Amino acid sequence: MAKILVTGGLGFIGSHTVVELQQAGHEVVVVDDLSNTTIEVLNRIKKISGQEPTFIKGDLKVRQTVSGLFRAHPDLDGVIHFAAFKAVGESVEKPLEYYENNISSLVYLLQELRDRKLDNFIFSSSCTVYGQAEKLPITENSPVVPAISPYGNTKQIGEEIITQAVEAHNFKAISLRYFNPVGAHPSAEIGELPLGVPLNLVPYVTQTAAGLREQLSVFGDDYPTRDGTAIRDYIHVVDLAKAHLVAMERLLQKKNEENYEVFNLGTGTGSTVLEVIKAFEKVSGETLNYKIVDRRAGDVTAAYADTTKANEVLGWKTEKTLEDAMADAWRWEKKIRNIN
Ligand code: UFG
Repeated sequence: MAKILVTGGLGFIGSHTVVELQQAGHEVVVVDDLSNTTIEVLNRIKKISGQEPTFIKGDLKVRQTVSGLFRAHPDLDGVIHFAAFKAVGESVEKPLEYYENNISSLVYLLQELRDRKLDNFIFSSSCTVYGQAEKLPITENSPVVPAISPYGNTKQIGEEIITQAVEAHNFKAISLRYFNPVGAHPSAEIGELPLGVPLNLVPYVTQTAAGLREQLSVFGDDYPTRDGTAIRDYIHVVDLAKAHLVAMERLLQKKNEENYEVFNLGTGTGSTVLEVIKAFEKVSGETLNYKIVDRRAGDVTAAYADTTKANEVLGWKTEKTLEDAMADAWRWEKKIRNIN
């Protein structure tokens, strides 16, 4: 059993990961500033796992908060770092806030790791680092291209910072490049809680079906794909959370092959926007009100993961389907909106 710090542990992916860590017998300390979630998530985690993680409300771009955390918990074995701003459009409006928040928190955490000779660090990265890859599916060796948004750039810069820090200070780290995380916990206790109008497809779909939104806009049907809509690799958040457990245990058990490793986390299958809508309609029995509109600026045509490295080297693979994810997302949406 290890003691793991999970930053952003009350967020969407963070909360699911806390549950997986606890269910595997690990002790979890969560730090979250509650800027994009609510404190009730703590209770909901406990409902699933039977244990409430230690919780600290704190802002990691404040140096003293980070050092205080490590002083209060000198026996940590590893850190999984989710806490970050993540809205692509907002990052274009507020680049400096994105750099300040996402980069300084990372640097402060790594300084603590270095000073305390703490070894094991996992970073939330994104397939956005690949942009529109020339070859599909996308392997970890696909070139990292200049980011379009400040948000994407914080992930690229974050990976560079970790690479250089690992080299200089000899600790161990893994970056996990997520494709499109969707779904919710099958218990419907935890899920995605977008503030305001959702920007991502699946919460927009479920909120439309729940009557919160009038109509889903499908951004473009003139892409060079099988039905003209853009292709993404939608991965169930519980599968994604389990990958963090596997990655952390890989570091704890010193099974890593290099001090810094990178893995793509996806299902390996691309789905079009219309296929996502169909999967939702099938599992929910609802008919979704949608219309085709113009493309959204900055969207790539297609992105899906080559899962070979994650399967063979990390020893993890997805177990859930797109339909599972849509069913769980819908169950969650109905629960939080009190729909039977
Ligand atoms: N889409 C719609 N209508 C919507 C929302 C999305 O048609 O209302 C489409 C998008 O155009 C895209 C697909 O659904 O083709 C998925 O869109 P999301 O916004 O859910 O996800 P993205 O692939 O755009 O975003 C993901 C991550 C980001 C990351 C980005 C990089 O969520 O963190 O990839 O491109 F920055």
